[in-house]
Parts: sequence; structure tokens; C-alpha cells
Amino acid sequence: YCKRLLNDILSVLIPFHLGLQVKVTPATVTEGQKVTLSCSTTCTLSDNPNPTYIWYKNGHVTTQSNSLFLNPVSSEDAGRYSCAVEGHEDLPSAEETLTVRYGPKSTSVSVSPSGEIVEGSSVTLTCSSDANPPVDKYTWYKKNVTSPKASGQSYSITNIISEDRGEYYCEAQNGRGSRNSTALMIIVAGKQTSVLTTAVGIIVVVLVLILVSLDSCGSGDPQEEVMPQQTHSVHPDPNSDTYTALNMKTRSPEYDTLAGLPHCHSLSDRC
Ligand SMILES: *[C@@H]1O[C@H](CO)[C@@H](O)[C@H](O)[C@H]1NC(C)=O
Ligand SMILES: *[C@@H]1O[C@H](CO)[C@@H](O)[C@H](O)[C@H]1NC(C)=O
Repeated sequence: YCKRLLNDILSVLIPFHLGLQVKVTPATVTEGQKVTLSCSTTCTLSDNPNPTYIWYKNGHVTTQSNSLFLNPVSSEDAGRYSCAVEGHEDLPSAEETLTVRYGPKSTSVSVSPSGEIVEGSSVTLTCSSDANPPVDKYTWYKKNVTSPKASGQSYSITNIISEDRGEYYCEAQNGRGSRNSTALMIIVAGKQTSVLTTAVGIIVVVLVLILVSLDSCGSGDPQEEVMPQQTHSVHPDPNSDTYTALNMKTRSPEYDTLAGLPHCHSLSDRC
């Protein structure tokens, strides 16, 4: 019984005694280079001199082999690695971190505010990119313009003018490389063609049309047209009945009420 108990205790303690350890060589690599991960022990296991090792990446089983050769290593290989002896998976080694450096990937430009850019307004372009170590240098270019426009992650164009129209892109750079974004087209809308201005313009036109149609009810009154013709071309006797009647119309405010044009009366003093 005592011997069995000792065996059980030993079998539990053996992984500790073996000193399982992950070695990452080199610990920091650049994407595309090669890296070796080995699981090593400080002594041999008497009941299992050639153990099978199990590898864990970020806590999940990945493969069974003595060593991992990652060649070429990719950014997705970065993570925490540990190993264990098959049959003693509950006692893995300590984790070692594999760091993979890479130049900027998927560089892109975003624009704020989005939507139509009106002359005189301001716009900010922001460059983003995935890189390790992080991007330390951003450069802004405009297509067909050789010299850079600006540097820094964000590029603001204030008081924009139509000449600012064009395609903009950024270059993201870190110690491992650089990558240009695809170009973003900036269209500057003239103030005259903006939606707001167009709407205001339409409203003004409609208002003018309404005013003109109100006015026309005065000039459209046949008696108004007849009167000046008669006074100038016929030269009537000031004492004649016709003249008096017409004269009365222009002088007497009651005439309006009598002639009866109720829909125009209050809107135009010519009616
Ligand atoms: C850049 O120049 C080329 C050739 O002159 C022309 O075809 C292209 O439209 C220009 N691009 C811009 C954004 O002005
Ligand atoms: C990004 O664009 C600039 C300007 O056109 C150019 O000098 C540079 O070589 C480009 N970089 C890459 C990585 O293509």
C-alpha cells in the first residue's frame, strides 16, 4: 500500500521535478522569419524516457510534437505557449510569449464629418493601420502632388476650397515597414449647389410666384386698364357721365366694396 501511494504521489509530482519549460528562439521575431519553440526537461522520466509533448497556445491544445517550427512565422502565430507531457496534461509548463513584429497592414483613411463637404467648411482625415510595434510615422499625400501634404495620424483641411478636391492617401510606417492606404476621394461642393441653398432658392422662387400672382389680380382688373386709356385717348369732357363714374371709382373708397372683389380686397390696395 505504501509503495502504491508513493508511486501515485510521484506520478503527480514528476512534471514539477522534470522542470518542463518552453523555450522560444528567438523570443521576438519579425513576420516572415523563422522561430523555434521547444519543450525541455531538466531530467528524464524513468517510466517514459521519450514522452510525447502536447502544445498549448493561449490555453488551447494546438499540436503534439517535441518542438514547433514556425517558418515563416505570421502575425497570427503570436501568443502564449505552454507544453505538457502526454498523460500529465493537468500540469503544463509555464507560459512563454511569442511576439511577432510586423509592418503596417490594412492601412485605411476615414473622413469626418462624412457626407458632402461644402466649400468653406473643415474636414479631418484619419489614418489607421494595424502594426506591431504601433505606427510611429504617418505621412499624408494627395494624388498627382509629389510632396507630402502633412504628417501625423490626423490631417485637417480647414476652410476648404474647390482646389482641395482630389484623392488623398496616407502612408503608415513603423520600424518594420510601411504601407500606403487606398486613396479617398474628396469632393468639394460649391455653396450654390448645396442642398440647403437649393431648398432656400426654391422657397424664394415660390414666394416670388405667389406675390406676382397676388399682384396680377390688380392689373388683371379690366376697369383699371380701361380707365387710363379713356382718360388719355378719348379726352372726355370732365363733366361727362363716364368720366364722373370712373373718377368716382378712383376717389371713393366705397366703390371697392360696391364693385365687390372680396378675394383681392384685403391683399392688394390696387384692387
Ligand atoms: C492625375 O494625373 C493623371 C495624368 O495626368 C490623370 O489622368 C488623373 O486624372 C489625375 N488624377 C487626379 C486625382 O487628379
Ligand atoms: C507611398 O506613397 C508615397 C508617395 O507616393 C511613395 O513615395 C511611397 O513609396 C509609397 N509607399 C509604399 C509602401 O508604397
